[in-house]
Amino acid sequence: MRIIKAKDYDDMSRKAANIMASVITLDPSCTLGLATGSTPIGLYKNLIAAYENGNLDFSKVHSINLDEYKGLSGDNDQSYRYFMNHNLFDYVNIDKANTNVPNGLEPDSDKACEAYNEIIHAAGGIDIQLLGLGRNGHIGFNEPCDHFPKETHCVDLTASTIDANKRFFEKEEDVPRQAYTMGIQTIMQAKKVLLVASGADKADALAKTIEGPVTPEVPASILQFHPDVTIVADEAALSLVK
Ligand code: F6R
Repeated sequence: MRIIKAKDYDDMSRKAANIMASVITLDPSCTLGLATGSTPIGLYKNLIAAYENGNLDFSKVHSINLDEYKGLSGDNDQSYRYFMNHNLFDYVNIDKANTNVPNGLEPDSDKACEAYNEIIHAAGGIDIQLLGLGRNGHIGFNEPCDHFPKETHCVDLTASTIDANKRFFEKEEDVPRQAYTMGIQTIMQAKKVLLVASGADKADALAKTIEGPVTPEVPASILQFHPDVTIVADEAALSLVK
């Protein structure tokens, strides 16, 4: 694992965006694995700025997102499709037909997951997978459990994740209880992994990710076995790493 210490959120966002930008520059038709949540917003802003400056071209880029809430349509402002459109896709020259997010409106979980696995296989692999980190160590919506799920699957969100995500909804009852997420094996098959973390509330999960035993109780700890992982985290998030 390569660990890059950033001063603060803005510094983390800049440094991580530079890594992502270098992948796009070296391979303009690359496939990006993308994440939602608060952490990557600054990174996406930097990518948009690089596009506006003429330094990045997304016209041939493909993307595959990690996850989507089950039951939300892409027009719902809490859906991850909506998030991606409003935080990145609408502001760069990516062809939306080349962007993929699990279909939250497919009520049949098996169908939704199989369809997404087919999309991932057809893409022929993810060149760089961007990850945020849950306070409980989750990546995508792979929550702590007794095994590492392989491919796309439907998960019941844990109380900790519902609590962390309720800030985006009017009331806690509105937070969907299930989501479709890419599996751990798919994440591990990405050529490169870029994990971003900011703030003291990630410090415990990040220390366990980097130094703890590899266990499905801390899903991100599996990244210790990936050959090309870069973690860009700020001082607060790294504060418990020895
Ligand atoms: C988002 C995702 C989640 C988040 C994680 C951290 O697509 O898969 O694993 O990355 O919950 O979220 P933030 O960045 O909001 O703290």
